[in-house]
Amino acid sequence: MSVSILVGIQWGDEGKGKIIDVLTRDADMVIRFQGGNNAGHTVEIGPEKFILHLIPSGILHKGTDCVIGNGVVVDPLALKKEMEDLRVRGIDLSKLQLSSRSHLIMPWHKLLDKFKETKADPSKKIGTTMRGIGPAYTSKMARTGIRAVEILDKARFETHFREELADYNTTYVPLGAEKLDADKAFAEVWEGCEYVRPYIQDSVVTVHNAVREGKKILLEGAQGMFLDIDHGTYPYVTSSNTTSGGACPGTGISPRAVTDVWGVIKAYTTRVGEGPFPTELKNAEGDNLRTKGGEFGATTGRPRRCGWLDIVASRHSCMVNGVDYLAVTKLDVLDGLDTVKICTAYRIDGVLTENFPADTEALNRVEPVYESLPGWKQPTSAARSWDELPENAKKYLNRAAELLQAKIGIISVGPKRDQTFNR
Ligand code: IMP
Repeated sequence: MSVSILVGIQWGDEGKGKIIDVLTRDADMVIRFQGGNNAGHTVEIGPEKFILHLIPSGILHKGTDCVIGNGVVVDPLALKKEMEDLRVRGIDLSKLQLSSRSHLIMPWHKLLDKFKETKADPSKKIGTTMRGIGPAYTSKMARTGIRAVEILDKARFETHFREELADYNTTYVPLGAEKLDADKAFAEVWEGCEYVRPYIQDSVVTVHNAVREGKKILLEGAQGMFLDIDHGTYPYVTSSNTTSGGACPGTGISPRAVTDVWGVIKAYTTRVGEGPFPTELKNAEGDNLRTKGGEFGATTGRPRRCGWLDIVASRHSCMVNGVDYLAVTKLDVLDGLDTVKICTAYRIDGVLTENFPADTEALNRVEPVYESLPGWKQPTSAARSWDELPENAKKYLNRAAELLQAKIGIISVGPKRDQTFNR
């Protein structure tokens, strides 16, 4: 039996979808535990490219049970669309289930996200994906959210839906938010709800049965450590616990059942949206990483900010997540550089530190201290084993692992399934 958690240990977009896909070869069940369709997990199989937003990447392996866990916030219309798109491409969805305890993203959540990001004080902009994620989690915490289980009783769902919609219209429309027409909004949303209804199950029971039967289970995180509501660069974060600790409440699995934690880390760093980013390269080097790495959001298409590998941040991340194994992705993007850099410490107001500060304001004043290593000219993308990597690429990875005090388990050198090997 094994229960493995896989999380991003930077600012998201580490390549979790691909690594989950690779690890799913051996898994019986994959469960998403937080976030919503703000995520965009890309998997390339042969000539085909899939971008999954809500459905666990394990769905691309026939026969794997895939669960959208109770910690996820689900837009029924987005889920319907994603399911339809996969069906058209011949993907079997019979093994998919949606937790009855998951909370739903409703039309007012999306409008509120847009309202707060575009109409309210611009200095407060987070740069969200505008998918209604924050407002849906706000409703959950305020104990006014609508859960998937309510879809099973149309009359009850409709009453709750109309109450919450009226509350939104009364509270936010006078402030300038867009007004919702209750009949129209209900008709639209119900179409999505009816489509996903057959997949709603008490996932806590199925997940526990799988644990009891000794199945191999993967808990799939979305976004990344520094977007975590508690441990991220608050307030420039998403509204859920993206760290490994979030996997237990987000699935109903006991912490005692977890066997190991995978931390996915890109060979450099990216961030999308607002907020501090100590090793950001606002120059041609950053532009080069963006172009070579195709660093544009899988969900929103926004250009990602790019920078060098940040050990101060990632070491903090390994500590908080309890990372056992690292999966290093996109090593090939660094091919051809004369020099590669690793940030080993921060200087803040003249003071040197190796600790990641809690104060987001202080993060804006960081002067990164870099260690430079010689680059490599040979392409890594054709490598299929550690031994086939250029010597300087090995030195770079070994130095990063040493500084992170973590073991490298997997290395990825390109977007394709087969461009992956074990250390
Ligand atoms: P939200 O999750 O849409 O509320 O956005 C909050 C912050 O998290 C913004 O900076 C987004 O750009 C970022 N974010 C949300 N989802 C992802 C993701 O899957 N990858 C990278 N950044 C994300």
